[in-house]
Amino acid sequence: MTRRAVVVGTGHYLPKRVVENAEFEASLDTSDEWIRSRSGIERRHFAAEGETTSDMATEAALAALKDAGLEASDIDAIVLATSTADLTFPSAATMVQAKLGMTSGFAFDVQAVCAGFVYALTNANALIVSGQAERVLVIGSETFSRIMDWTDRATCVLFGDGAGALVLEAQTLAGSKEDRGILSTDLNSDGRYKDLLYVDGGVATQNTGHLRMQGNQVFRHAVEKLAKTASTALERADLSTADVDWIVPHQANIRIIQGTAKKMGLPMDNVIVTVQDHGNTSAASIPLALSVGKSRGQIKPGDLIVTEAIGGGLAWGAVVLRW
Ligand code: UT7
Repeated sequence: MTRRAVVVGTGHYLPKRVVENAEFEASLDTSDEWIRSRSGIERRHFAAEGETTSDMATEAALAALKDAGLEASDIDAIVLATSTADLTFPSAATMVQAKLGMTSGFAFDVQAVCAGFVYALTNANALIVSGQAERVLVIGSETFSRIMDWTDRATCVLFGDGAGALVLEAQTLAGSKEDRGILSTDLNSDGRYKDLLYVDGGVATQNTGHLRMQGNQVFRHAVEKLAKTASTALERADLSTADVDWIVPHQANIRIIQGTAKKMGLPMDNVIVTVQDHGNTSAASIPLALSVGKSRGQIKPGDLIVTEAIGGGLAWGAVVLRW
């Protein structure tokens, strides 16, 4: 028998304001056609003034707790993936802890940019498997609209805000690849590529800074690294792409999503796609896609899922789980 981290609840939150591609045409030399054809994005949500990463994370967490039929007091730990925490410190996770009324347990942020949720899931899994927690809220929440350079058409049209959350629960299962829960993980980073995607501000500059990206360079790395990490994670679980019901990829660009599925030998019918409606929400994109995929009736109990993501660092990875 083995301790597994099983998903028992999902939820998400999207801010009210929806911005269609055409809105950018007024202020930038861009077009709906360019954004759609190069990225697959049609619209994105932006947080309201004063609405923060921890606010959105709390909404997503409450939805996931409701879905799981649990209270905040049933949770031992919060692992929050974000690169846009409300403040430099304390962590956004501790702010969520307070907003949920949790007075016990522990909470921390994980910062691996767009790969953040895969890193957070891996950490949460380790906490559960090692017996340090029974139930963990794993959240991805981002307000990338606060770090955009609105004069840079190559980046500001691509990102959006939002949050998604899962409740993971320890269950003692057979220890076979048929078990529900997280079956394997694979994490990677290579800091030599730090200049391909970064924010030019922070503690060192004493300002928040703006996102800078050499998009076509990141693109070049993405498909190959994502397909490789997905296949490594599948091998670790003694599974292959033939066993996969859903790829739930980081939602940055439809061409990366399609290219990765093709390289893995799976049709787009097996891929959850939300990039058209959310844009790139960084660490929030995978939990958003999982929650939306479940509410659309696509993801069902027992389905085998591979999540994969790459982003600034470069950092990338994959998680294989059975729903
Ligand atoms: O989530 C974290 C990881 N990030 C990613 O995965 C993003 C990866 N990269 C991408 O998604 C794509 O590279 C982009 C969508 C960012 C760009 O697509 P691309 O096909 O790689 O285009 P490009 O950067 O090579 O630019 C092509 C042209 C350039 O013009 P010239 O130099 O060919 O004349 C750009 O200046 O498109 C121009 N361009 C635009 N034109 C209209 C760049 N942004 C825009 C824009 N509207 N918004």
